[in-house]
Amino acid sequence: MATIGTSTITHTFIAETAEVPEIDVTVAYSRTAERAQTFAAANGVPGWAAGPLDDLLASDAIDAVYIASPNALHHRQAQAAIAAGKHVLVEKPATPTAAEFADLVAAAHARGVVLLEGMRNVYDPGFAAVRDLLPRLGTIRRVSFGYQQRSARYDIVLAGEQVNIFDPAMAGGALLDLGVYCIAPLVDLFGEPPSLVARSIPLPGAADGAGAVLASYPGFIADASWSKITFSHRPSEIQGELGTLTIDHIAAPRTLHLTLLDGTEEHHELGIPRPNLRYHARRFAHLVASGDDPSPDQTRTLRTLRTMDAIRLACAD
Ligand SMILES: NC(=O)c1ccc[n+]([C@@H]2O[C@H](COP(=O)([O-])OP(=O)(O)OC[C@H]3O[C@@H](n4cnc5c(N)ncnc54)[C@H](OP(=O)(O)O)[C@@H]3O)[C@@H](O)[C@H]2O)c1
Repeated sequence: MATIGTSTITHTFIAETAEVPEIDVTVAYSRTAERAQTFAAANGVPGWAAGPLDDLLASDAIDAVYIASPNALHHRQAQAAIAAGKHVLVEKPATPTAAEFADLVAAAHARGVVLLEGMRNVYDPGFAAVRDLLPRLGTIRRVSFGYQQRSARYDIVLAGEQVNIFDPAMAGGALLDLGVYCIAPLVDLFGEPPSLVARSIPLPGAADGAGAVLASYPGFIADASWSKITFSHRPSEIQGELGTLTIDHIAAPRTLHLTLLDGTEEHHELGIPRPNLRYHARRFAHLVASGDDPSPDQTRTLRTLRTMDAIRLACAD
């Protein structure tokens, strides 16, 4: 496998592949030879590549790519990799819009390669634990998910400069970067919301800094909020008529607390290691090796991205 992008997340991904024996990162790609070489050496990757991405993709030395570039580039890079017959694991959000992802799914299917979004929390065993506890809550009435983490790169924006993660041209912004960690589990647990209202806080000359959605489902209401310009340690919550489940972190559930109507309190320390990129990496390796149909995973991504599209549309109202 080759990696595309040389930021911290690629470093973390490579470290995580130590837990996934089927994945062997053999090439680190960067736009510049100097960065590719330095990054490969620092991360124990035996090979490096630079220059036109198509040259790397034409090589028989790799069978897959991990794409961790700015969001706006995912579609173009994944499309080129798929056309070259490479399996693709692409960072979240797979693409800025559902239509772009649908296009990639069709291309991957036609070419017979695996396309998977690295949406780390929905593959995390902590999320499976959340799902397992849901029936104990009774009829679900309220859901509240949140991810608010002030970005160090916001200081660059405040200084009047542009940076990818806040750049609309790079499909940056809080919804696509952090909101997706709330929307993916929401849609996975409860489906696409039949209706929603949403608002965002646009930053001058930049993308959205924060936002929130109120989504209506038959019989219950869900809210989700995200921010890259403020921070919060408030946990996420699912409330049913028989109890409430508190989730310490929606991007990596590690501590769950169940309070039941009958007074029962259950504290679940899951003891799952962080970071949590290994779980979707394992899923990717499994899909490639087994030839299993990746459609259920891709449908999950499509549904999430459709909801993200609807939120963006509502914010523009
Ligand atoms: N799963 C997670 O926990 C997690 C965490 C952080 C980020 N992410 C995701 O990872 C992706 C990258 O995010 P990031 O914040 O790391 O992005 P970034 O730092 O802005 O860019 C990542 C890499 O992409 C390349 N790049 C940057 N600008 C480019 C451009 N204009 N054209 C082509 N390549 C460019 C750079 O590599 P070279 O200059 O070496 O080519 C850079 O190291 C995003 O999709 C993000 O959502 C996921």
